[in-house]
Amino acid sequence: MKKVDVRLGKSSYEIHIGPGILSGVGNQLKESGFSDKLIIITNPVVNRLYGEALEQNLTREGFKVAILQVPDGEEQKSLETAGRLYHELSNLYAERTTPILALGGGVIGDLAGFVAATYLRGVPLIQVPTTLLAQVDSSIGGKVAVNHGQLKNEIGAFYQPRLVVSDINTLRTLPPKELANGLAEVIKSAVVWDEEFFTYLEANLDRIKSRDNRVLEETVFRPAKIKAEIVEKDEGDLGLRNILNYGHTIGHAIESAAGFKVGHGEAVAIGMLVAARISNRLGILDISETTRLRSLIRRANLTAETPNLELDKIIQAVRHDKKILGGRVRFVLPRAIGDVFITDEVSPSLVGEVLIDWNEET
Ligand SMILES: NC(=O)c1ccc[n+]([C@@H]2O[C@H](COP(=O)([O-])OP(=O)(O)OC[C@H]3O[C@@H](n4cnc5c(N)ncnc54)[C@H](O)[C@@H]3O)[C@@H](O)[C@H]2O)c1
Repeated sequence: MKKVDVRLGKSSYEIHIGPGILSGVGNQLKESGFSDKLIIITNPVVNRLYGEALEQNLTREGFKVAILQVPDGEEQKSLETAGRLYHELSNLYAERTTPILALGGGVIGDLAGFVAATYLRGVPLIQVPTTLLAQVDSSIGGKVAVNHGQLKNEIGAFYQPRLVVSDINTLRTLPPKELANGLAEVIKSAVVWDEEFFTYLEANLDRIKSRDNRVLEETVFRPAKIKAEIVEKDEGDLGLRNILNYGHTIGHAIESAAGFKVGHGEAVAIGMLVAARISNRLGILDISETTRLRSLIRRANLTAETPNLELDKIIQAVRHDKKILGGRVRFVLPRAIGDVFITDEVSPSLVGEVLIDWNEET
């Protein structure tokens, strides 16, 4: 098992990463000082796969476990679902010391985290992420939220978990599309922070896809460590942490312009490539770096089918972005693989040109 320390003073915690460690959660929680009652929040898909075994393990260790389920899907990240969960927690007489354990992907982690942050002004939160995206990204750093209307993550908090347990065996049951979604964030962390890890991914991508345990462990560990390091330097997301938005500015425009028919990972992947192309155009990034990035993204099964992307709509979405109209949208651009910077000097027309070229070339 590998460990990552997230050093945030009183809010410090550990991330445990390894195969089969779900069976040690009860013992780990006892060592961390928890006992008695514990509430698992999950969905039926993950519960069927891992809920029962986890419940048995916790019960064996003396915990009184209750499982609260919400249906699968992003639409459950809502105030309405949070409200229903508050009600159920109250019925179970959950107290301020009763931990909530989020078992699932980023949707469950964000929702259960939001509930944990707000119920009784905050109860302990344990993250047990089961998707690659959640293990490398959403379970770390304390951003918890629900969506509101059309706005994603509009209502939320910074609320750090007490412990993160990433059992990489859970990634074996993950559909390939979800693995690819997580890989977009894995590749992102390499580009923003660690060229050597990017080289590792180039050498080992096929083993990730075939779910080789040793390689998966490293593939979760390295981005977790990178994110921990960045969050330690900028917990409140006021500066450095913005670099984790690499690929997301264009990615979000693509997602909304395509009516969310393009997967999040694919949208971020295109966003990362467009940002790289912008950097090429500005004479900052060497073209060979973009070629490397494009090749890795393709091998991760992430390139979107270009004919399905309505470029006009994307460009329109970028042009109509209020922040862009104000001329101050912040782009994260690579200088080289492993080194990015933040700028607000990118014009919407340059974004448009690069998008059109990119569509013609790919
Ligand atoms: N808080 C943050 O910092 C942060 C960062 C990035 C993304 N997010 C959020 O994360 C969410 C996306 O998370 P996600 O990509 O994990 O999606 P998700 O939680 O919807 O999970 C994807 C699918 O995989 C299923 N699943 C989960 N674990 C599985 C397993 N081990 N085997 C088989 N199926 C499994 C889920 O039931 C779901 O159908 C978004 O809401 C996004 O806003 C938050």
